[in-house]
Amino acid sequence: MNFVVAIDGTSGSGKTTTAKLVAEHFGWFYLDTGATYRALTYQVLKEGKDPEGEREVGEVLKDFHLKVENREDGQRTYVNGEDVTDHLRTNEIDRAVTPISKMKVVRERLVDLQRRISENKNVIAEGRDIGTVVFPDAALKIYMDAGLNERVQRRRKQKGDGNSIDEVMKDLKRRDYHDSNRDLSPLKRASDAIFLDTTSLTIQKQVDWVINQIEKLNESESAV
Ligand code: DC
Repeated sequence: MNFVVAIDGTSGSGKTTTAKLVAEHFGWFYLDTGATYRALTYQVLKEGKDPEGEREVGEVLKDFHLKVENREDGQRTYVNGEDVTDHLRTNEIDRAVTPISKMKVVRERLVDLQRRISENKNVIAEGRDIGTVVFPDAALKIYMDAGLNERVQRRRKQKGDGNSIDEVMKDLKRRDYHDSNRDLSPLKRASDAIFLDTTSLTIQKQVDWVINQIEKLNESESAV
């Protein structure tokens, strides 16, 4: 039997780092679903296609083979055999991933892939629609958020590429808006997800909190 933990939340809420460390703690598979949308975006831009054009993106999907691998230093993502991991966090991809992740043809294909990658594994998956759409039966669902100012600070530290506070704040607000207001699989807290406000928590505190939730669940299940 496989055990699935779904972590959803806003950009900069700390879900990526937390999910990675929790997966490492248990020796489970870590799935960064944002990287799957970014990998497709990378390929669309590489092929010179329009990220707003559903037909053009559909063309790219015809020959799009995605593989993800867990290594000690995190998830590696491959497109058609090319390791694209280090090219996924550019400002260009931050912008172009928004229209691409709204497309029905894209979501159907990537959700299917995410489920197949997770088959027969204990997995910690993180994204925007994990608890609502990808794994509605997950054993544990967590929804993370943090205050905007704190998320801006974290984002700037993480990217370390000299973007100003204003630029990063504008980008986060833009992503919050699009992630939460798109028609398909918008970011929202599943009714059975536990909410965690990470504004004043260190990463270690977030990790310990999630580990504790998983252990509590395991204890109560083995007590039945
Ligand atoms: O988590 P991230 O910032 O790497 O995600 C990149 C984009 O992909 C994000 O702006 C919205 C989209 N995304 C999504 O629509 N559904 C997911 N499960 C994960 C990410």
